[in-house]
Amino acid sequence: MIEIRPCAGFDELEACVQLQIETWGYDESDVIPRKTFLVAQRIGGQVLGAFDTELVGNPAETMVGFVFSLPGVVTGKGEPQAYLHSHMLAVRQAYRNRGLGRQLKLEQRLDALSRGIRYMEWTFDPLEIKNAFLNIHRLGATVRRYLVDFYGVSSSRLQAGLPTDRLLAEWRLDSPRVQAILIGQSTPAQLIEERIQVPASIYDWKATEVGREQALAVQLENRQKFQQAFSRGLAVVGFSRDAEGNGVFELGSPTQA
Ligand SMILES: CC(C)(COP(=O)(O)OP(=O)(O)OC[C@H]1O[C@@H](n2cnc3c(N)ncnc32)[C@H](O)[C@@H]1OP(=O)(O)O)[C@@H](O)C(=O)NCCC(=O)NCCS
Repeated sequence: MIEIRPCAGFDELEACVQLQIETWGYDESDVIPRKTFLVAQRIGGQVLGAFDTELVGNPAETMVGFVFSLPGVVTGKGEPQAYLHSHMLAVRQAYRNRGLGRQLKLEQRLDALSRGIRYMEWTFDPLEIKNAFLNIHRLGATVRRYLVDFYGVSSSRLQAGLPTDRLLAEWRLDSPRVQAILIGQSTPAQLIEERIQVPASIYDWKATEVGREQALAVQLENRQKFQQAFSRGLAVVGFSRDAEGNGVFELGSPTQA
């Protein structure tokens, strides 16, 4: 039994700090401290935890995942608009691939909508096939921006020393398209004008010193493809994976999405 709810108290926020270290292997230059989680909750952000109610221990010891967002404001034409920038999503290894990551994002969405917030964004590594599948295919996020080496040097073990290139996921929380995807309904067929591939071997390449050069080559080639496609006005509107586990970003017109 998994319960998802806002984290409460110092111990549960500290559990988020520890889960970060367990997930990414961050050193102290990258880790988000307890105080930041506390402030985020105070100013309209979200720190939601997933707790396994069948585990023995105090609530902080039973946390098996969390998601964290900060509030943002878009200014420009018209009234300023509040939105959420989701900065971290982590699920403990033994609990992965059971829908918990998706569930945490859905709770974020419901909480946002209940407060009148209709837009959320986050960045993700374009080499992480699983994350792309979850963000684009399962949640219905779209992408129009590529951020080169967004965070600079990172101590994350998932980054494997590569530049921290990121795609910016845009999640229109109450759009008909997102609503349809979340309930498993088909969306209108979209013309796919370009495909950008990520080989399944990327995970193995990132894990070894020898393979890292190959991973970097894919990153640089795809960086260029994304940048060119986005400059032509295309957006990532779909993502698929084949039987071998290779991932394919599908790009088309953002207005259709
Ligand atoms: C990303 C993460 C939070 C996802 O959590 P999770 O609970 O495993 O996610 P879910 O089970 O809800 O969804 C994952 C989906 O990807 C699929 N998947 C698993 N491995 C995959 C792979 N190699 N390629 C493509 N899809 C994959 C799963 O089957 C599932 O899809 P389904 O619901 O259709 O079966 C978790 O893997 C994690 O903590 N990773 C490390 C930290 C991280 O990368 N965080 C995100 C960036 S901040």
